[in-house]
Amino acid sequence: MTSYLQCSIDECGTTLELHERALSCPKCGDLLEVVVNPDYVDPAKLKQQWLSRRASHEARDTSGVWRFREFLPDCYAAHDVVTLCEGNVPLVRGQKTAQWAGVKDVWFKHLGWNPTGSFKDLGMTVGMTEARFVGAKAVACASTGNTAASLAAYAARAGVTGRVYLPAGQASANKLAQALDFGAQIVQIEGSFDDALETLLNSADPDLYFLNSINPFRIEGQKTAMFELLEQFGWQPPDYLVVPGGNLGNSSAFGKAFAELKRYGFIEKVPRIVIVQAEGANPLARMWASGSRQLRALERPVTVATAIRIGNPRSWKKALKAVELTNGLVTDVTDEELGEAKAVIGRDGIGCEPASATTLAGIRKLVRSGQLDGDATIAAVLTGHALKDTEYIIKIQQKQEMREAITADAH
Ligand code: F0G
Repeated sequence: MTSYLQCSIDECGTTLELHERALSCPKCGDLLEVVVNPDYVDPAKLKQQWLSRRASHEARDTSGVWRFREFLPDCYAAHDVVTLCEGNVPLVRGQKTAQWAGVKDVWFKHLGWNPTGSFKDLGMTVGMTEARFVGAKAVACASTGNTAASLAAYAARAGVTGRVYLPAGQASANKLAQALDFGAQIVQIEGSFDDALETLLNSADPDLYFLNSINPFRIEGQKTAMFELLEQFGWQPPDYLVVPGGNLGNSSAFGKAFAELKRYGFIEKVPRIVIVQAEGANPLARMWASGSRQLRALERPVTVATAIRIGNPRSWKKALKAVELTNGLVTDVTDEELGEAKAVIGRDGIGCEPASATTLAGIRKLVRSGQLDGDATIAAVLTGHALKDTEYIIKIQQKQEMREAITADAH
């Protein structure tokens, strides 16, 4: 099998050699994707092999990304791989959360229970492995915080310089602290995440290797979360897969996973992908509601869920393809709705960061409006750990106490 890069726009389809250091198609300028081409696939045998690797101590087998390596770029030897034993995270059944959202069954795939506390690690292990493979000495990303923390950790493991571009004063202190702890260089940019990404992409430093999710190797790693999820469901796909939407790399990755698993005969039906954005940072949800097929970026995205405060999501076309392919949906929720959902996820003993709670809030909203069947089997992806934004939790708690004190005084 030989993997290669291909333009993600079907009508273009330009192909490039796998290790070409390009982030966009030289012909049409759109995003690239990795095409993996396993020569021979026996789904029953591979399902067994992937599971049995969990009992192995070989470095790649201990990773919940690399144990699915038959569907990853096929060029790396065991000693090439930069891993922190990411993946292999539990699927937790919702209790109070299910009741709150009005559904029979909700399962949380908690990608916040990864080495640096977010799903970014799944993509970073592949992105960083490729960066080192092509000889990069310095890697960089723009970030709302989680990519920065993850890049910093994996750069430290790989022995390369990590540089992160953050929107000044907008990433949570916890995430910034992680990036510092892992020794990354921090560049603060006045403006939003979109401005930080633009600045980085225009920096034209030929020595920098880019590790935002427009890098197709990141997407390859992130897609394995769905291989693992389906394994945990005994390869009986749930009806829905609900995911928060920011720059829209993750939803793109999940759509790619489902398409590949169906194409190669691992599953017969695909879960319907539901993307949930925060109302103040909802360009895809707006586009979806309007029926248009052209995204209009938001100049000034605003939401308490700082991880997804993004107005110009770069992977929107790939994400739209994922939604359309799976007969899915796009919606949005207010900061109040996601705040309530976050509190319930906490009371269920699970916890997550604000951006992740858009999933549960979205489920409740869609059940109430009759767009989602409460008897369906629903999987929701929690993207970040509860400790990623402790300031938010404390602020909300103080507000709550103040409200209670005022109510008590009034009685
Ligand atoms: N949830 C969390 C916790 C995130 O950190 C992000 C993105 C998302 C959801 C959205 O994922 O961008 O693939 O749609 N965080 C990026 C960062 C932008 O820089 O950490 P997406």
